[in-house]
Amino acid sequence: MARAHETQIMTEVSEAEIAVHWKEEAHYLPPAKFIGQANLTDPAINQRFSLDRFPECFREYADLLTWDHYWHTTLDTSNAPYWKWFVGGRLNASYNCVDRHLRRHKNKAAFIFVPEPEDESHAAITYQELYVRVNEMAALLKDFAGLRAGDRVTLHLPMTPELPITMLACARLGVIHSVVFGGFSGEACGIRIADSGSRVLITMDGYYRNGKLLDHKPNADIAVATAQKEGQKVDKVLVWRRLRDRPATAAPMVDGRDFVVNDLLKNYAGDHVQPVSMPAEAPLFLMYTSGTTGRPKGCQHSTGGYLAYVAGTSKYIQDIHPTDVYWCFADIGWITGHSYIVYGPLSLAATGVLYEGVPTYPDAGRPWRIAQRHDVNIFHTSPTTIRMLRKAGPDEPKRYHHQFKHMTTVGEPIEPEVWKWYYEVVGKGQAVICDTWWQTENGGFLCSTKPALDSMKPGSAGPAVPGIFPVIYDEEGREIPTGSNKAGNICIRNPWPGIMQTIWGDPERYVKTYYAKYCKNPKSKDWRDWPYFAGDGATQAPDGYFRILGRVDDVINVAGHRLGTKELESACLTVPEVAEAAVVPVVDEVKGRVPEVYVSLKPGIAPSKVIQEKVVHAIETTIGKIARPKEVRIVPDMPKTRSGKIMRRVLAAISNNMDTGDVTTLANPDVVEQIRQMVQGAGRVATKAAPEDIKRFGDER
Ligand code: WT7
Repeated sequence: MARAHETQIMTEVSEAEIAVHWKEEAHYLPPAKFIGQANLTDPAINQRFSLDRFPECFREYADLLTWDHYWHTTLDTSNAPYWKWFVGGRLNASYNCVDRHLRRHKNKAAFIFVPEPEDESHAAITYQELYVRVNEMAALLKDFAGLRAGDRVTLHLPMTPELPITMLACARLGVIHSVVFGGFSGEACGIRIADSGSRVLITMDGYYRNGKLLDHKPNADIAVATAQKEGQKVDKVLVWRRLRDRPATAAPMVDGRDFVVNDLLKNYAGDHVQPVSMPAEAPLFLMYTSGTTGRPKGCQHSTGGYLAYVAGTSKYIQDIHPTDVYWCFADIGWITGHSYIVYGPLSLAATGVLYEGVPTYPDAGRPWRIAQRHDVNIFHTSPTTIRMLRKAGPDEPKRYHHQFKHMTTVGEPIEPEVWKWYYEVVGKGQAVICDTWWQTENGGFLCSTKPALDSMKPGSAGPAVPGIFPVIYDEEGREIPTGSNKAGNICIRNPWPGIMQTIWGDPERYVKTYYAKYCKNPKSKDWRDWPYFAGDGATQAPDGYFRILGRVDDVINVAGHRLGTKELESACLTVPEVAEAAVVPVVDEVKGRVPEVYVSLKPGIAPSKVIQEKVVHAIETTIGKIARPKEVRIVPDMPKTRSGKIMRRVLAAISNNMDTGDVTTLANPDVVEQIRQMVQGAGRVATKAAPEDIKRFGDER
């Protein structure tokens, strides 16, 4: 593709200015019972966090933390757009999430671990127990692995307590963790190890997923080999054991490189490690996400700003009190889990449920049984999970006595009818819902209703959260009038404490991707000149509520997680028979969007099932099963412009049963009809109204 860099990939005004695809829904009021107990009921929050109080308003969030040294400058913009929050302050994230709660809460559960097998007992880990385990692991990382503040370490762990324990042990030392989602392939993990420069990989030998004990250790071997190829040597692989009595893997341990953590820990029993007092701007972790180029971006998050932001939003938007039982049903391997399973809730001394497995194992009643058993009162998950549970067991929630006060959705737009099922059946009409819009780059929520103060509107993320000031721009950088229901590119006018600091190892890409597009003056030190470009299309209704329409770049949001089409296409091109590849999003009833792959073959090679399987295999090994395409279609040629660009938009239209529009100016218009017949069949298929991200997908802009 002839695309120099990410900022050029934008939607055209004509296509961004589109009507919303769901009709306006009526507002729902938060239940009185919820309001009666909520953390945030004072409407003066809107004045406290008004734009003229920015950035000092965020002192309120910073004050939720315990600082070793209090900070002197709330926001330093001298090196815009590399923002520095709470400058001069020092703190330790592990101290804030664990140690400081011991005095009042040592005997309270920090986590309740629910293993996937239903006959395995649940385990409550108290704050005291968490403290001991984090200290022992920190001692091991320091003495055995030789890790020091500022070093990076990659974690490729499943959803068991060992994951947050390892993260907090890193944080205790000021070591920067980079957690790679457990479902990513060994190769994907290896690429991230190399990019972050980690010389230690921490993994687990296996874990339960959908009734099976998966062997995870081979992924570590692939990851180390991949990192090596990329020029990064891994000296130590630390392997946690999932099972008490035997290894969960058949893979051998490499002598001198691989070590069983559970065995090593015996040498550190009862050890204490002083939390390292870190500058507020020291990086706490990296979290890789997909962009429009093949290389994943390591979003670098700070210690002070990030922790303050997730603590503040966990308190006000998630409404977490220490007495609540909170269950965020996401994976810690994504940003949602970092912010709203680990750092936010623990900073508030919450009790959180940690569930190992899939929502529907062994049946669609499982989440409600867990909720009933632990009397969970705050529930947080993605529209994909909600759609999956609704499809598999629409009446299941009625069979259980769980009662939530608060429910969150995150990651994708939620269809109003799915929202209503969540509200009426899961929430039994008595819970508030927060539809939270944000991104890996953001650290925490950007848009959501304030649960006790704002009414809810199905299908809308709501207004911005305190201290966030969105604006919608058209392609030329003109502001789209507030509340006009016209679509454009949603941006945030101001920086906030949770915003990433930079892209690890690629500061220029950070500026190009998020700021270059609408920067008013690249030399400016004034934050007002640097709106943050989110990469999503959005509209704002007259009531002020934002509706997120989807990505405006070549990123597909599959089941609430981002996949770059470029990453998938590069994977396809590793198959020797493949000449060209194009990946497009297809609407999926459960996952929102799934990728569909088009490939053309090298001359003289005949299409075959074997080649299709090779393509699927290539995607699964380079990225992971989450990227598995719905379909691999071998086509005689790609539809192309006269200058040779592949018209992904045309392919997306075909895959989604939409009209392809005028294709007569293409270099090879007949191939479009051939592909259409292949995909849609010979009969003319009625044109369906398509969601905006699909309509606009792959536009040559
Ligand atoms: C993309 C970010 C951080 C949350 C987990 C996903 C989409 C996110 C919503 C929402 C509509 C949403 C956007 C965004 N998105 N939340 N409530 N309504 N769309 O994080 O993997 O960084 O993906 O997810 O398109 O850009 P992520």
